[in-house]
Amino acid sequence: MYESFLKYRNFLYLYVALTLVAVSLLAYWLHDPLHQPNGGTWLGYTLGTLGAVLVLWLTALGIRKRAYNSNLGTVRGWVSAHVYLGLALVVVATLHTGFQLGWNLHTLAWVLMLIVVISGVYGVWAYNRYPVPITRNRANLNRDLMLAEISEIDQKADQAAEALGSPVERMVISAHRRFTVGGGLISLLTGRDHSCMEEPRERKKDWKWKVVANADQQRLLELLNRELAGTREQQDYARLQGLIDLVSQKRALAHRLREDIRMQSLMRIWLYLHVPLTFMLLAALTAHIVSVFIYW
Ligand code: HEM
Ligand code: HEM
Repeated sequence: MYESFLKYRNFLYLYVALTLVAVSLLAYWLHDPLHQPNGGTWLGYTLGTLGAVLVLWLTALGIRKRAYNSNLGTVRGWVSAHVYLGLALVVVATLHTGFQLGWNLHTLAWVLMLIVVISGVYGVWAYNRYPVPITRNRANLNRDLMLAEISEIDQKADQAAEALGSPVERMVISAHRRFTVGGGLISLLTGRDHSCMEEPRERKKDWKWKVVANADQQRLLELLNRELAGTREQQDYARLQGLIDLVSQKRALAHRLREDIRMQSLMRIWLYLHVPLTFMLLAALTAHIVSVFIYW
């Protein structure tokens, strides 16, 4: 759906938006108010009203997107118009202010509008940037299937480790138990892996265990390879090799899963600014309009 909304009907809405911008700039240039240009002149009111209508209409995309039976044009056409007219709004609303910006409620509306617009620009970029790599990374799997495969690998690895006994058994089982995907917002967006495992340290009477980082199953693989190098027994050697193979498969799958989550999050994160700030903008705009009429 998103791949070509920018080119919708040969850039129809780009031209509409450019016309709107050109007409507003021309009117501002020709306008000769008694005092400084500001929101209170006839042009100020015209541009302000146009700006407010645009904001309401831009907000209505949220309703149109969910109205599946609507015959008010395609969603693709709406998104195309939304993007270009949303950008034109910056010029319309800024000319409306006559550049009289300061630390006040009116400017709050203007700043909120800018943040909504900038997040929207990021959104358009993200919708073009991420879908192809997400599909490529999934390669016929979805998140549930990846998780199911990882859990199958874990079961096989646990069984293989059980046959090898201590200390491999505890290393593998602890790596399984302390394996994590996701976490806080930063982890989701960076794909950082906070998985841990228990590593055997000195052996006196019994092993001493220490919890260590096991990002990308790296530490577990290192320790298993070390075990492999010290193993003479043929059956154990084969078991360890099988185990290393399984852990490597899990590492690759978990990496793909994290990439999937990371890219999906980066593709959606902007909506957490775009949508709530739209409602804050509507509130600030209402307050702005009410306040200018009170002080009128
Ligand atoms: C996107 C919509 C709008 C934005 C972002 C916006 C923002 C602003 C800003 C920043 C100012 C300058 C305030 C100052 O002089 O300190 C202003 C002035 C003004 N705006 Fe708006 N405005 C919008 C829509 C409207 C609408 C719909 C109306 C009225 C129907 C309106 C009426 C006014 C008036 C009368 C002023 C002059 C106030 C004064 O000089 O004290 N604005 N606006
Ligand atoms: C003040 C101006 C704007 C307002 C109030 C606004 C508001 C909204 C709202 C309410 C939605 C619906 C979100 C949902 O329900 O999921 C939306 C979607 C969207 N907006 Fe804006 N927007 C503005 C400007 C922009 C700009 C300038 C761009 C891009 C340059 C943009 C890009 C988008 C895109 C791509 C979507 C589609 C999201 C989807 O379908 O998942 N917006 N916007």
